[in-house]
Amino acid sequence: MDQKAINEAATYVRERLSDIPAIGLILGSGLGVLADKIEHSTTIPYKDIPHFPESTVAGHKGQLVAGNLEGMQVIAMQGRFHYYEGYSMKQVTFPVRVMKALGIDSIVITNAAGGINKLFSPGDLMLITDHINNMGDNPLIGPNDETMGERFPDVSQVYNRPLLRHAKDCAAKLGITVQEGVYIGNTGPAYETPAEVRMLRTLGGDAVGMSTVPEVITAAHAGLRVLGISCIANMAAGMLDQPLTHTEVMETTEKVRDDFLRFISEIIRTFPK
Ligand code: 6GU
Repeated sequence: MDQKAINEAATYVRERLSDIPAIGLILGSGLGVLADKIEHSTTIPYKDIPHFPESTVAGHKGQLVAGNLEGMQVIAMQGRFHYYEGYSMKQVTFPVRVMKALGIDSIVITNAAGGINKLFSPGDLMLITDHINNMGDNPLIGPNDETMGERFPDVSQVYNRPLLRHAKDCAAKLGITVQEGVYIGNTGPAYETPAEVRMLRTLGGDAVGMSTVPEVITAAHAGLRVLGISCIANMAAGMLDQPLTHTEVMETTEKVRDDFLRFISEIIRTFPK
């Protein structure tokens, strides 16, 4: 995925937008409804955008929605690309490059994740304070284009501290309880075994999912401010005496949808410059 492909995709999208977006949003499983709140919106199916992959998972729509959300110009991915679908890391993170080329300086990345921390409950929202890349791959592998970012980017503060502070203030203001913690990115598509979940807890994880880490690494490389939010859709394997299902993930995200929508809306409405 070179600069030429990024530019062609960005040009296609830009020609259809009336305003330059300031904030990018990646909406995870069951959280895509936020895009329905975008006003004066332009919707662009991924399949129409040059070089864009197509998403295949149920509950993911596969389109960009740009417009005004709470007075801010945003561009949202309704549905994302997952490594487990067979896409390369470059393909998974291509949309982040395109949104950067369109002019965003910040990105809010959301996902549905499994809770590892024993103090969490399904339905909790978790601000991501750090991550562990457990995918065995990295989107920055290969020749580095210095115009896009450094060869060895610092990722010690990717989860932007002022944005974390801002999100916590918004939660307090709305009376929404939020957890904080470390997100571990696994490839999936199988969920973890109970033994793996114990391992991940020992490693320092609070939540586990199959996305986000590649996009965050790419966003860091591109110099974007990142805010990451997990919806704890279920407890990870072995923590409760019940099997994991994608249906449960979708049902839980549906239940917390209202809080999630209010929370993100407030974050965007008062987004720090
Ligand atoms: Cl338990 N594991 C992973 N890897 N991803 C998830 C999940 C669990 N729950 C939702 N997404």
